[in-house]
Amino acid sequence: MKIPPVKGTRDFYPPDMVRRNWIIDGWKKVSVRNGFEEYDGPIFEYLKMFQIKSGDEIVEQLFSFEDRGGRDLALRPEITPTLARMINQQINSLPKPIKWFSVPRLFRAERPQKGRLREFFQWNIDIIGVDDPRADAEVIFTTIDYLRQVGLTPEDIKIKISSRKLLAAALRGFGIRADNLEPLYALLDKKAKMPSDKFEVVLKEEVGDKEIVNKILDFMAVDDVRDIPQIESFLEDDSGELNEIFVSLEQMKVEDYCVFDASIVRGLAYYTGVVFEVHDALGKLRAIGGGGRYDNLLHDFGGSSIAATGMGMGDCILEILLRGKGLLDEKLPVARLDYFVACADKLTTHTDMRIVARLRSMGYSAAFSYKTGNLSKQLKEASDRNAGKCIIIGEEFKNNQLVIKDMATGEQELVGIDEFLSHLRC
Ligand code: HAM
Repeated sequence: MKIPPVKGTRDFYPPDMVRRNWIIDGWKKVSVRNGFEEYDGPIFEYLKMFQIKSGDEIVEQLFSFEDRGGRDLALRPEITPTLARMINQQINSLPKPIKWFSVPRLFRAERPQKGRLREFFQWNIDIIGVDDPRADAEVIFTTIDYLRQVGLTPEDIKIKISSRKLLAAALRGFGIRADNLEPLYALLDKKAKMPSDKFEVVLKEEVGDKEIVNKILDFMAVDDVRDIPQIESFLEDDSGELNEIFVSLEQMKVEDYCVFDASIVRGLAYYTGVVFEVHDALGKLRAIGGGGRYDNLLHDFGGSSIAATGMGMGDCILEILLRGKGLLDEKLPVARLDYFVACADKLTTHTDMRIVARLRSMGYSAAFSYKTGNLSKQLKEASDRNAGKCIIIGEEFKNNQLVIKDMATGEQELVGIDEFLSHLRC
């Protein structure tokens, strides 16, 4: 009986691992050069941790279970709650600001679709303890720093930026009650994922008043940064925050990647300030990443009130986008061998293993073939495995000599075994 993989999961065969490692290594390198330190947490946590502040959508998608001790647990659908828990635990001893990154494997019981699976990797960068729009700008800059490094230009992707404070002020100005804001955010976040007529119907059901619906739709359609001063008149005590972020992004010379877009709301419940999403410029794919400011989460998790901002980027849409732009496969590192040891004579097979073991112990990558005796098949294997040099144990071995073939030029050289081994350096 053949057992298929579980729906929404991926098998990573060796070529897939090369791709996955290349993406993750890039995330890690960019994090480090932007001053972030790596952390990780457990793959499962108490179920209630994800029920406190992540929002209904995530809660509906949890893989939860009861352990043998009767504890309600869940596989992590995101790492931000774990981050908040870990920081609260050591808040007094951690040097501030805290700039941490992580690449967790996450689980969400979503309906599997293009770029959305039930198990995926997500790059997270977060800055804790800085109540300053420049920290939001630094998170956005680091996100772009990676995207730019892999070859994506402002023609390929856009960072769409807005603010929950701005949205809240606008909605309150339209007559929405404060306690209705949170359910409304979850609904507004679905705008881009629904046909517009259906969205309008659902919004009308939620809000009740056609005039307010029209005002909300007009507000969400604003996508020009020059409208920010006018929009910010909605803000009573916080004007200039978004503007400050855009100025910082301009100073860091990444403004071409960034646009203001009032339709960005974010699905997660804990955001309190600036929110942003990374989208392909043509708008054909789901979000590549998203984040924002979440100044209440550490407090909601039993800690003190500490400002926080960050973002998460998944590997699935990113991979689809990079492949579509021809930016993936040609950039992947090709596996190479320093030496391939071939045996023309079956009797000398233990010699090839001895030489291979010696080469490996000196730090070289080396392989031998199980097809001893057939030299042409072994040379083909050496070439298929991208060997730099092939060591041929043949007739000459009787005189304690080996043939060293340079696989790029085809040149062959006869050397004494002892001389060859003594010239190897780690
Ligand atoms: P999120 O918007 O839920 O944010 O996820 C961020 C990214 O993770 C998405 O844009 C997408 O690329 C990827 N992602 C989410 N769900 C799936 C899925 N089912 N399959 C494949 N990829 C997926 C968060 O998770 C926040 N915790 C990010 C954050 C960190 N905010 C502040 N700090």
